[in-house]
Amino acid sequence: MSIRRKLIAGNWKMNGTMADSADLAGALADRWMKGPRPDCDLLVCPPFPLIVPVVAALAGTEVAVGAQDCHAKPAGAHTGDVAAPLLSDLGCRAVIVGHSERRADHGETDAIVKAKAEAALSAGLIAIVCVGETLEQREAGRTLEVNRSQLRGSLPVGATAANIVIAYEPVWAIGTGRVATPAQAQEVHAVLRTELALLLGEELAAATRILYGGSMKPDNAAELLSLADVDGGLIGGASLKAADFWAIAAAC
Ligand code: G3P
Repeated sequence: MSIRRKLIAGNWKMNGTMADSADLAGALADRWMKGPRPDCDLLVCPPFPLIVPVVAALAGTEVAVGAQDCHAKPAGAHTGDVAAPLLSDLGCRAVIVGHSERRADHGETDAIVKAKAEAALSAGLIAIVCVGETLEQREAGRTLEVNRSQLRGSLPVGATAANIVIAYEPVWAIGTGRVATPAQAQEVHAVLRTELALLLGEELAAATRILYGGSMKPDNAAELLSLADVDGGLIGGASLKAADFWAIAAAC
């Protein structure tokens, strides 16, 4: 049995209204109260303005709340950005950094992702550090090299198994319905763990969770979650339906 407790994290992305999030968080709280409870850690990451009501709706459950990004600085003149200490103050336990959508939409480099992850750690948050290759990179045979390099460049100083989670999200699998095969996922996860061992030591690498993200759904979750180096999922579309999110968690 793995020493790593699985984590199922929902990334709600830029979706939902106050009413939608109240319904979704309410349904998750209801499932938590009524049971059966899944044998894994649970996290949901709503858009920034919905963090406070979602934290309130999930109070009394062990469904944690996280954010989808943070700034690298703890405060200051950065219009439109959100600082990690504020996220922590609002009740967040974790923050996603380096999602491929932010790398693509906002030009976030590995250095920026690393700085954001370090800000998260300083604020007492778990940093969920995302890596993943594009289809072009995969077809060029560069998958392993790209993932190793993103991990090396994005890993925060001070990382421990308790304060970081790695998420492997092949860009070509995100929101496309085209999920990585078990062999493709396991290959990259194992390489990421080996790279972690080189960077941080065997013990920490063995204890660090590496999530898979990219079209994970109730019907493919069990197979992916049974792989030796897959320690959970970072779920996009399927996290917007309480029943699907719960079914994925139940597959742990
Ligand atoms: O961060 C989660 C993610 O990018 C996967 O999205 O919709 O393919 O599950 P989705």
